[in-house]
Amino acid sequence: MKNTEKMRNMKVIIASGNAGKIKEYRDILEPLGWEVISRHEAGIDADPEETGTTFEENALIKARAIHDLAHTCVIADDSGLQVKALGNEPGIYSARYKGLTDEHARRMAVLQGLEGAADREAQFVCCICFMEENGAHHLFTGIWNGTVAMKEEGENGFGYDPIFISEDSGGKTTASLPITFKEQYSHRAKAVRLLLEYLQNQ
Ligand code: IMP
Repeated sequence: MKNTEKMRNMKVIIASGNAGKIKEYRDILEPLGWEVISRHEAGIDADPEETGTTFEENALIKARAIHDLAHTCVIADDSGLQVKALGNEPGIYSARYKGLTDEHARRMAVLQGLEGAADREAQFVCCICFMEENGAHHLFTGIWNGTVAMKEEGENGFGYDPIFISEDSGGKTTASLPITFKEQYSHRAKAVRLLLEYLQNQ
């Protein structure tokens, strides 16, 4: 049997509780013949502590936790914003920066941290871990370069989108642009494309 045929009709669990992320993966993988199910649909409650020091380590921790229970293919990801002048923070702590639970408060913390800074360079990073049924894993990382805006702008997206100006945006924050822009250019889109390339070449 050819590898491409072997890869069809395979089941993959998306190790995320985020409905948007699950839909994104479903849209990409189902046309390739994959059965895509969420962690919730698989009846798995695991939400492991992200104890890694890199996006890669955390993506692997999330994938392994599901795989240990389900013994099937798993896709997990970890992402965040790295700001150069803040020593690459919030980084892996993006979802819990400075212990703040509110997204607006986290954005304000970044803006305050950059007050008076000449360098506002930043990048979004997304690392996807694809774990095979046998436990072998493959990592795919997408990076989206840009700068941090002077203030929040725009209503689209989530997280740090209102303060991130990607290099390909014509000076607009990600939250000011249609969501289709992000689907094409973002760190996540880039990592997904690498995963897809890998799967198609199997
Ligand atoms: P996670 O990968 O779901 O753990 O996301 C980590 C955190 O990084 C999110 O809660 C956001 O604060 C931030 N983040 C990751 N990707 C994006 C993005 O595409 N836009 C804005 N913020 C993001």
